[in-house]
Amino acid sequence: MCGIVGYIGHNEAYPILIKGLKRLEYRGYDSAGVALINNDGGLNVYKAKGKVADLESYCEDKDKTGSAGIAHTRWATHGEPNSANAHPHYSASGRLALIHNGIIENYMTLKENLVERGIVFKSVTDTEVLVQLIEHIMLSNNIELLEAVQVALHQVIGAYAIAILDRNHPDTIVCARQSSPLVVGLGKEGDYYLGSDASPIAEYTDRVIYLNDGDIAVMRLGEELKVVNMDNETQHPKVKQIDITLGQLEKGGYPYFMIKEIFEQPACMRDCMRGRINVDADRITLSAVIDYRERLVTARRIIIVACGTSWHAGLIGKQLIESMCRIPVEVEYASEFRYRDPVIMPDDVVIAISQSGETADTLAAIELARQAGAFVFGVCNAIGASIPRQTQTGVYIHVGPEIGVASTKAFTGQVTVLSMLALSIAREKKTIDDETYKHMVAELTLIPDKMEEALKTNEQIERLASIFTYAKNCLYLGRGYNYPVALEGALKLKEISYIHAEGYPAAEMKHGPIALIDSEMPVFVIATRDKLYEKIISNIQEVRARGGRVTALVTRGDTQIQQFADHVIELPDTQECFQPLIASIPLQLLAYHIAVCKGKDVDRPRNLAKSVTVE
Ligand code: AGP
Ligand code: GLU
Repeated sequence: MCGIVGYIGHNEAYPILIKGLKRLEYRGYDSAGVALINNDGGLNVYKAKGKVADLESYCEDKDKTGSAGIAHTRWATHGEPNSANAHPHYSASGRLALIHNGIIENYMTLKENLVERGIVFKSVTDTEVLVQLIEHIMLSNNIELLEAVQVALHQVIGAYAIAILDRNHPDTIVCARQSSPLVVGLGKEGDYYLGSDASPIAEYTDRVIYLNDGDIAVMRLGEELKVVNMDNETQHPKVKQIDITLGQLEKGGYPYFMIKEIFEQPACMRDCMRGRINVDADRITLSAVIDYRERLVTARRIIIVACGTSWHAGLIGKQLIESMCRIPVEVEYASEFRYRDPVIMPDDVVIAISQSGETADTLAAIELARQAGAFVFGVCNAIGASIPRQTQTGVYIHVGPEIGVASTKAFTGQVTVLSMLALSIAREKKTIDDETYKHMVAELTLIPDKMEEALKTNEQIERLASIFTYAKNCLYLGRGYNYPVALEGALKLKEISYIHAEGYPAAEMKHGPIALIDSEMPVFVIATRDKLYEKIISNIQEVRARGGRVTALVTRGDTQIQQFADHVIELPDTQECFQPLIASIPLQLLAYHIAVCKGKDVDRPRNLAKSVTVE
């Protein structure tokens, strides 16, 4: 959610900042801004509602010189998206400029105090309170920026990643984090880069420091990074090596990141399994399972916490773990779990699933679980993000940066990791026999090839998509392992095409949603051959009998469903539990092509943010 970029060094800052903002555009935002200290020591702030391109146009005739700057994409929480509320915000005297990601919960109280002291606010944001408070503390105590930030943050309740420029110190950026991500890049010749994640930094340096909660960092050109906390105690965050290629951050010939990422899935799944499944394809080795074998094998219960698409992956994980490991699994929306005083026992294992590793609700659920003494296991994509750092152990999905706001390859990566995890625990617990285990591991390694087959449906789906662009509502039905696939298919359509869609367990339809069915309502049914095949045929008949129009995803060679469905999409066969890895692909393609037909901005759907760092 929102993006922060900063640069201080020997080059012009503006092009680096703009490029950085573009790299962060995928996170979702509604306005953008930049602050630069020019060569005469002036602090210029430029802001615009809309896209980074709008900011660029606005800046065309402005002074963009300077080698120190900060920039921001805002996802409004307090105050409408307009240029006044966009960041950076100036302090009252114009000496400081500040950008912020997060929410200051006690901003009203802080603001009232400052207003009483005669400070005039130019925006209605919670953020502006920070910059006014910091400057007020600086001036009234005659202290420097770092100390003022430390004093101010003692008074602040909320979540923040902030970066501040002080025109009196054009060689320095001060930044701080609490519950919102911030990464410092260490450039050559003492240059510094700053980002909400590593993507705006990766092309300049591979040496980064992920700040921890409570850290305040001073990036001073040519000097070593200074990291302290609010009480001025020195912190020692580690320098990490990042491994992000430029190709991963660019579209590589595809019109949108989303379609690139859909097509990357076979390669991503191979990356996810590489080094974890041996060449003979009969053994999975997950170091987290080796290191924490006892804890996992003796778990009395597993609770999966996640949001959105990651929650859907969790529903598949539940079925995989329960059937293979015979451990009861509950799947919780992190946002509900954190506030409803759940029963958590010390012998519970909590699995937190998150692509970004920064989702505020999931982080809070982890904290709650840890306080209750549960063992917390992370399934994440973003390396070094907050969730992997706050869980005792975990498994990265290794699918590379996911830029499209609608999650695709992260979903299949999560399901792949959960499959490997379930198989590994089951083997240790001896709830799976050797032959079945080997057979399943071998099948898992064949899925990338089968995904490639599934991707060949792209042209057929592109043709079909134009038929559905008129739809106002769509229903997605599936059973068993394919029920979460139905939910995920519906979510994808909603997110990027703005067509209302519901995912339902197919048999549950007759308990209500069947009332919606008529010839105007497209119904997508995942009806691959599994143990519920006959049952789902009956569900298709129920839809047909009410004039519904059915598009069915079937196993290749299926002739039965052809007779009842308006359209069929054929998919390669696999074991039932791995079917979601294949069946989700045509539904991703369908949502994508429908959204493209409707002329929507597929990678940056309205109102959505990629990384939801506020609750
Ligand atoms: C997926 O398409 C979404 N945009 C969204 O539901 C997402 O899965 C959710 O916000 C959770 O994000 P996370 O995996 O980064 O925690
Ligand atoms: N709460 C701040 C605002 O509304 C920051 C939002 C963000 O994270 O972009 O301006």
